[in-house]
Amino acid sequence: MSIPHSEFAPRVIAWQRQHGRHGLPWQVSDPYKIWLSEIMLQQTQVSTVLGYYSAFLQRFPDVAALAAAPVDDVLAAWSGLGYYSRARNLHRAARQVVEQHGGQFPADPAGLVSLPGIGRSTAAAIAAFAFGQRTAILDGNVKRVLTRCYGVEGWPGDKAVENQLWTLAEQLLPRDAASMVAYTQGLMDLGSQVCVRGQPQCPRCPLNSGCVALASQRTRSLPTARPRKAQPQRSTLMLLARSQDGQVWLERRPPSGIWGGLWSLPQLDTPEALPGWLAQAGWSHARLAPAWPAVQHVFTHFRLTLTPQPLMLEHAEPGPDNGQWWPLEQALALGLPAPIRRLLAECGQGRIGEMQKNLDLDA
Ligand code: ADE
Repeated sequence: MSIPHSEFAPRVIAWQRQHGRHGLPWQVSDPYKIWLSEIMLQQTQVSTVLGYYSAFLQRFPDVAALAAAPVDDVLAAWSGLGYYSRARNLHRAARQVVEQHGGQFPADPAGLVSLPGIGRSTAAAIAAFAFGQRTAILDGNVKRVLTRCYGVEGWPGDKAVENQLWTLAEQLLPRDAASMVAYTQGLMDLGSQVCVRGQPQCPRCPLNSGCVALASQRTRSLPTARPRKAQPQRSTLMLLARSQDGQVWLERRPPSGIWGGLWSLPQLDTPEALPGWLAQAGWSHARLAPAWPAVQHVFTHFRLTLTPQPLMLEHAEPGPDNGQWWPLEQALALGLPAPIRRLLAECGQGRIGEMQKNLDLDA
């Protein structure tokens, strides 16, 4: 049984009061200080932020001081925190608060979200911490808590899944706005200290008795990972050149790259390149048989469709510089890529007879 929605917030609040983080310098009521901390904490850990935070506040004690400063001074105070667009947006937002809001931060998420650098979750955090607004946050940590607790499947970066999580986050809000600070801080603390990515500390979690992921042993697979990108698909023609006396033409691959240093078949990007290749090889008189059915080969970063193109030469005559003729038996004893070995093995098992038949038909 998952945790009834009405029971979720009371558990988080009680846990936060006893076990959550207290005494952080931004656990105050000044919206300016809260806003600054939320921006600094967007991509940076609490331990790193602590040092910068007090220095920044000494240099820019309120929103008016920040708005009046040259942007270069703001960037200098931000120096070392990284993601400098945050500092530029901070400065722009400060000017907007002074010029458009009379120096007072908007007290609701809709007003806050219109300021540069403040997204929906940050706006909600500021509104909850500074103004006790009953509004839901949903940062990466909270997404992890909710997907696990309620067994929400699907990558949370997906719009539909994200919308589902926003709806859930709103349904879970405490009834009473008076506990919004403890609730919001509690969710953040649970997500960053207990319901962590690698090894969640479930025995310490106030939600463990109703957590869907824990009950179904899915804490590892929730939240659902971002789907892997479809592998790029490449294709190549593989020239299967054989002589009447049963030899096969192989060339050595360059030492680096796929199949580095192995013996393989000559490769062409497209069938149209074939006449030119044959002319260069001095094999324009070779007889072509219909291509064999394509073979799929999967590499780590792409898929390769290999189309074997048989061609027959009467004699094992010289060809391109980087290759040589090999009797089929000896060829099979060389270091070969697996799909090439399979093709050559098929040559040895009668497919060559079929190829010969085709050649006879063509002739
Ligand atoms: N990360 C983002 N906001 C935070 C806050 N108020 N306290 C701790 N970590 C946070």
